[in-house]
Amino acid sequence: MTATITSIAHYLPPDVYPNSYFEKYLDTSDEWIMARTGIAERRFIKDGATSDMIVPAARQCLEKRGLEPKDIDCIIVATVTPDHMFPSTACVVQNKIGAMNAWGFDLSAACSGFLFALVTASSLVESGTVKNVLLCGADKMSSILNFDDRAQAVLFGDGAGAVLIEKSKDKEYGIIDHILHIDGVGGPFLHQTAGGSYKPASIETVNNKEHYIYQDGQAVFKAAVVGMADVSLEIMQKNNLNAEDVAWLVPHQANLRIIAATANRMGLDKDKVMINIDKYGNTTAGTIPICLSEWLDMGKIHKGDRLVLSSFGAGYTWGAVYLRWGMNK
Ligand code: UT7
Repeated sequence: MTATITSIAHYLPPDVYPNSYFEKYLDTSDEWIMARTGIAERRFIKDGATSDMIVPAARQCLEKRGLEPKDIDCIIVATVTPDHMFPSTACVVQNKIGAMNAWGFDLSAACSGFLFALVTASSLVESGTVKNVLLCGADKMSSILNFDDRAQAVLFGDGAGAVLIEKSKDKEYGIIDHILHIDGVGGPFLHQTAGGSYKPASIETVNNKEHYIYQDGQAVFKAAVVGMADVSLEIMQKNNLNAEDVAWLVPHQANLRIIAATANRMGLDKDKVMINIDKYGNTTAGTIPICLSEWLDMGKIHKGDRLVLSSFGAGYTWGAVYLRWGMNK
């Protein structure tokens, strides 16, 4: 028995910030940002928290499937920008949508959050522990971005995706296989220094800007380019897939050069790679479900398509999921 995605939707804030927005006050340029990252613009939410992006995506996801919030058994929110340290954003979403019969929790795996949560949700469904999971991948990266630092301000955006995971009627379809990794040696290179129990918030931490993202871009780039490409190839080999078998690579959208290296390693042409980093930047746990939702809306994913989802992010966390698309549209 496999678990499968039975509905999907996404939400992006309406306010668009093109590269020219940063050119006005930072020593940067559209040329640099495009050449080094592939990003042309991103969205930032003006008012509201991560849950405020999840709620419209979640409501639409349920509506498409013809389910009521009360029909949901479990809510998992993958995010590194929860509304609060506690309670979990899953609790906030549960209350806002009125999913009165659901339990749930948040899952923290940064840019790999959606993949880790997808595997967790599938296991819960496959084991019969729950009949369905509303899985949300969302981040309000603007809440932890240092807008005065050109090396990070231009990279990220805000957005949310929501998918419903249920039992697959046919075991040929659904989440077939996964390879997931963590390696804590990556911590020093990409993290939020303060605000947790290690360094609680203080005037000093605020003055030192320790609540923003810290990233050693080059170190993360080197690890990501190898990690994401290796794991994507490994999952193909493990499942006897060659490039012709794969309909789509659905990569985490952190940098177009990392995506290109991964596709290249898998032997895939560019036209088999979902890319929307140009429009939204890196929305962390949002990138993969937003891609899937957009491509489905465009009619570009078909029943039976073999998809490889892959990611690399803070932790380090990385992995790949092989799934066979089971929805008609
Ligand atoms: O999703 C989570 C995982 N994160 C990632 O996967 C991100 C991985 N890293 C990257 O994508 C890239 O390292 C970056 C896009 C962050 C940076 O690109 P890079 O090619 O590695 O640039 P760099 O950090 O080596 O910097 C090159 C130069 C530096 O100037 P100098 O020292 O050569 O004079 C930077 O100060 O580019 C400068 N620079 C900028 N220039 C214009 C850095 N940011 C900017 C900017 N505009 N926004």
